[in-house]
Amino acid sequence: MTRLHVTEYHAGTGAGTLVLLHGFPVDSRMWDATASLLDAAWHVIGVDLPGLGGSAHVLPEEPSMSAAADAVHDAISGHTVQRRPLVLAGLSMGGYVTQAYVRAYADDLSAVILLDTRANADSEEARANRVRIADESEQSGRPDAVVGMASGTLSDANVAQRPELVDFLRGLIESQQGSGVAWSQRAMAGRPDSTHTLRDLKVPALVVVGEDDQVSPVDVMTQMAEDIPNALLKVIPDAGHMSPVEQPDVVSQVINDFLVQLR
Ligand code: MLT
Repeated sequence: MTRLHVTEYHAGTGAGTLVLLHGFPVDSRMWDATASLLDAAWHVIGVDLPGLGGSAHVLPEEPSMSAAADAVHDAISGHTVQRRPLVLAGLSMGGYVTQAYVRAYADDLSAVILLDTRANADSEEARANRVRIADESEQSGRPDAVVGMASGTLSDANVAQRPELVDFLRGLIESQQGSGVAWSQRAMAGRPDSTHTLRDLKVPALVVVGEDDQVSPVDVMTQMAEDIPNALLKVIPDAGHMSPVEQPDVVSQVINDFLVQLR
């Protein structure tokens, strides 16, 4: 299978490798502003997940988070990265993939960063909604069914006061293919509960949440941090579900502070 698309942010000077995984329905470009502020001693890369961004045509046969994690593992293995310390940072869907990666490749990882994400599986209702959107996106070949997420994932204040952020996200969403939207929705619909994966986590974790995140709210992320044996929780002011897009300065700072302890 063709490999997932990788964006090189910093070549690094030997501190380790940080892999950034984006949310749905966007691609690594959501990380651009934050990545430019990350510690350049780290080799920082973004991986476009199956069906999205530069990986639009990489669609593993079975849509699942574990297939996405396998594809990320393959992309990392095929790339010249310093194997240790290796840190995965995943936002929302990227966080689901990070949790699947922990299940399959725990020994690879030195730490994880989970941003604006969840450990629980979908309800029946949420699953049915994803399948409906997947069918619609497949038929139209377009991402129209999820364009509303451009404003739905930002805090209300940022929607009102920073229209350029809505435009930025809408541009990313409108550039996606219906097939990739469908693959991701089916993969997320089938994801298992990851609470035990997190309870058994052997490496340090940084848990980051926008204070106004409505998709994976602060109480959900606080519980996640409490479930992980060695986790640090950071709540990002003036941010919703897309904290790295809304507050790149603050998010890059909390990530850099966390990375320092791993070097
Ligand atoms: C995301 O930002 O990746 C999505 O909100 C995840 C989801 O739909 O569960």
